[in-house]
Amino acid sequence: MTAISSPLVARDEVTRPAAQNPSAGAPELCVIVPTFNECDNVAVLVERLDAVLGAVDWEVIFVDDDSPDGTAERVRALGARDRRVRCLRRIGRRGLSSACIEGVLSTSARFVAVIDGDLQHDESLLPSLLETLKRGGVDVAVASRHVGSGSSEGLSSERRKRLSLYGIRLAQRLLKAEIADPASGFFMLRRELFDDLVPRLSGVGTKILIDLLASSPQPLRVAELPYRFRPRHAGESKLDTFTGIEYMLLLAEKLSHRYFPHRLLLFGLVGATGVVLNLVVLRLLMLSGWVGFTAAEAIATVSAMVSNFFLNNSLTYRDCRLTGWQAIRGLLSFAALCSLGALTTIAVARDLYQFSGMWLLAGFLGAVIGALLNYALTSIFTWKRQT
Ligand code: GDD
Ligand code: MN
Repeated sequence: MTAISSPLVARDEVTRPAAQNPSAGAPELCVIVPTFNECDNVAVLVERLDAVLGAVDWEVIFVDDDSPDGTAERVRALGARDRRVRCLRRIGRRGLSSACIEGVLSTSARFVAVIDGDLQHDESLLPSLLETLKRGGVDVAVASRHVGSGSSEGLSSERRKRLSLYGIRLAQRLLKAEIADPASGFFMLRRELFDDLVPRLSGVGTKILIDLLASSPQPLRVAELPYRFRPRHAGESKLDTFTGIEYMLLLAEKLSHRYFPHRLLLFGLVGATGVVLNLVVLRLLMLSGWVGFTAAEAIATVSAMVSNFFLNNSLTYRDCRLTGWQAIRGLLSFAALCSLGALTTIAVARDLYQFSGMWLLAGFLGAVIGALLNYALTSIFTWKRQT
């Protein structure tokens, strides 16, 4: 029996294509595509990948943040016919960089590429990116808009082009990165290298390449291949004004070697707006003469707390924003925890004042410690995060 069945098994393995063979290893290349509302682009992208990657054993993973337009269903329908097409659907989450990180972590392919899902990147560059890495001596192969014949003509406006250039110059100067297009969202690297770097990544915002370059203890060797950034095929850009702020926060986090995580910085900024709001409301109520000081101060404090909660929910924690009843529950837990922070502030300031006799120092340190406690507690219990 064995004598007969083993040649059969062997023949079967030879004739079946690798992708359908259960004992075949992972594909050589995995293409990660972050998507949010790209339902009209995914099928075209898969077709194009199939056309350009003919000789390569590949798979594609769309990391979709539960797009309301049904992108994930479209991808799964494609995957039902073609096992090279996979979908990673994230619920209650947003974020381009973090989507790319989780996509890479979910593949066993030796090489991983990241490419936008809106067809603005020129997928025909993928084989050359792979060849460049295989030749050796290069850690990251980047499709670049700013070398040789490359261009960023597909950016939606002159203003976007200018902002993009300023952003790139800032990153080059601050991070001392020798790369013409660190803001590129189209690149390839070995999965092994990604695994080494992933514990240091910030995952904030949209610029995962900058995150990778700045997270490496030694400078990464980069090769840039020119391409023309195309105009959008369908749908619209997801980037907004806050994307610029997130970009600054990413640079700050990288420069400070994570001593100031971007969430702590944002939490501090929101806290500062709360102090101003508190004082403005207090002043207005006092001027109106409707209530006495204690009531005015109570109303001002509650206003600041509510405003701080909603600002933090939509900015500091916008990648895991609480909605509906979750937001109400979040507001209540935020208020309770911040009250704990306020009591700590008072206790610390009182003790420091008794010890030093310096009211300004005591008040300041009390406030800083109270704010840090608020940050730590609300991040863990209100938004269920560790940082
Ligand atoms: N999963 C997920 N979650 N995907 C997202 C999110 C998100 O929150 N936001 C955007 N995307 C996806 C989009 O669906 C698209 O496939 C890709 O990320 C790029 O987003 P766009 O909204 O099209 O950005 P852009 O056209 O302004 O591109 C600029 O940023 C890109 C990303 O850094 C350019 O600088 C590109 O070169 C760069 O690749
Ligand atoms: Mn785009």
